[in-house]
Amino acid sequence: MKYANEIQKRRTFAIISHPDAGKTTLTEKLLLFGGAIQVAGAVKSNKIKKHATSDFMEIERQRGISVATSVMTFQYGDTLINLLDTPGHKDFAEDTYRTLTAVDSVILVVDSVNGVEEQTRRLMEVCRMRDTPVIVFINKMDRDGKNRFDLLEEIEKELNIHLHPMTWPINSGKDFKGVYDLHNKSLVLFTANTKANEEDVVNINDLGDVVLDEKIGDADAKILRDDVELVEGVYGALNANDYLKAKVAPVFFGSAVNNFGVKELLETFVRISPTPQSRETSVRHLDVNEDKFSGFIFKIHANLDPKHRDRIAFLRVCSGKFERNKYFHHVRLDKDVRFSNPYSFMARQKDVIEEAYPGDVVGLFDTGNFKIGDTLTEGESFYFTGIPSFSPELFKEVVNKDPMKTKQLEKGLLQLTDEGVAQLFTQFGGNKKIIGCVGELQFEVIQYRLLQEYGASCEFRTLPYYKACWITSKDQKKLDDFTRFKTNNIAADKDGHLVYLAQSEWFLNTERQNNPDIEFHFTSEIHKEG
Ligand code: G4P
Repeated sequence: MKYANEIQKRRTFAIISHPDAGKTTLTEKLLLFGGAIQVAGAVKSNKIKKHATSDFMEIERQRGISVATSVMTFQYGDTLINLLDTPGHKDFAEDTYRTLTAVDSVILVVDSVNGVEEQTRRLMEVCRMRDTPVIVFINKMDRDGKNRFDLLEEIEKELNIHLHPMTWPINSGKDFKGVYDLHNKSLVLFTANTKANEEDVVNINDLGDVVLDEKIGDADAKILRDDVELVEGVYGALNANDYLKAKVAPVFFGSAVNNFGVKELLETFVRISPTPQSRETSVRHLDVNEDKFSGFIFKIHANLDPKHRDRIAFLRVCSGKFERNKYFHHVRLDKDVRFSNPYSFMARQKDVIEEAYPGDVVGLFDTGNFKIGDTLTEGESFYFTGIPSFSPELFKEVVNKDPMKTKQLEKGLLQLTDEGVAQLFTQFGGNKKIIGCVGELQFEVIQYRLLQEYGASCEFRTLPYYKACWITSKDQKKLDDFTRFKTNNIAADKDGHLVYLAQSEWFLNTERQNNPDIEFHFTSEIHKEG
């Protein structure tokens, strides 16, 4: 329990949303509150955007899409907050899924006009798989959005979560007057472009108070009184434990671009969100308060300079103290390694750090020693469970365009897939190299990087698969027979695990029905347990 104080101080979370819901804007406002950036105001200048999102990669600069996941650390009061950024673009969803394995909670931004969108649905599925506590921020209340009750119902139904309103909106769009804070019993009046700590707040202990009518008008005051009575009747007070167990998601209404509702969100977040949590490993439960260091790699990033192939591996500290220049055990390679220049990720500068504690993310220079999911310890051998690869959705065969560069191509494919840019499969019949991704753009990234960083040129040939399922069976003979009969649809992943490539849902269901002894898994997690 040596580091209990450090652990108590920390919160590590990610903001997730469908693109354009306001994730970047909310990130900026939170950084402003935390003093991590200084430029106030509603205008989102590119300068801020650069700091608020990572731009390590040339490709990202070219496309203006946040390919990378970076980490922003800021202090709010006594709390040290690590905000892990996630790429909004759906083609980089794997990146986001993996980042979600490194956080203890999530803030989900929903656009009040568009409601629940595709990407929101998928990201919430991953949160649910891991029982990650979620706070919902309903953004863009300054626009004419959906009816507030309908919106809550839609979110509950579509995302399969129970919501708990913490604030309640007074109208929306041009009539938006602000929110009633159900927890603090106060009225927070809307003004565009609110500056940090300059909110117009009126304490209203008794909703019958005429001050409410004075502030928002008789008609809206009546609606608010009725709404609040209904909402409080249905929801009561928030049980923070239900939130921590991911049974209930507190909801805030606001407008990120106007910096409105953000303070209430941040203060509640600091008050109720989980401190760094204990984790399961392949051999035992690991308590976050254990004195010995452990951590895992959840993200590997190509370095700034494409001429140098070194990369940055993102390490999440899970227990104990990480120290610069101290030898730690790299479990997969069974060797001891030390780091002379570990990074901390601040909003603007990257500093070499001496130590880090549970919840922190450390950037490690890597020359090819790390894969996603790798574990560092003080000697013990285990790995953290729950860091799966998900089934890709697009599959293409790699066609080598330059036989002189075959070696470079193979090396590049191996290294890029170690980074988790995509998954690499080798088909049984014909030995084809197949790349599986979640988004079309990933193929372009791979092609570009293979050429830039490895001098290898390739093309891709689209394959008609729809999903890759990892297959296992208690009956080895049945598994052998299945792989023999279905050779063209069977491949090995990079770790040699068997994968069935299904052409369509119909094929997949048929095979599952016809082969009850074979188990089909949609994540690679199965191979890591026990
Ligand atoms: P993302 O990271 O989730 O993709 O969304 P981002 O924050 O970039 O926001 C998407 C657009 O929504 C931006 O407008 C942003 O200004 C706007 N926005 C964010 N919060 C609010 C809000 O509370 N109310 C309203 N009305 N708009 C909001 P843009 O025109 O695409 O970009 P920009 O020119 O403003 O930078």
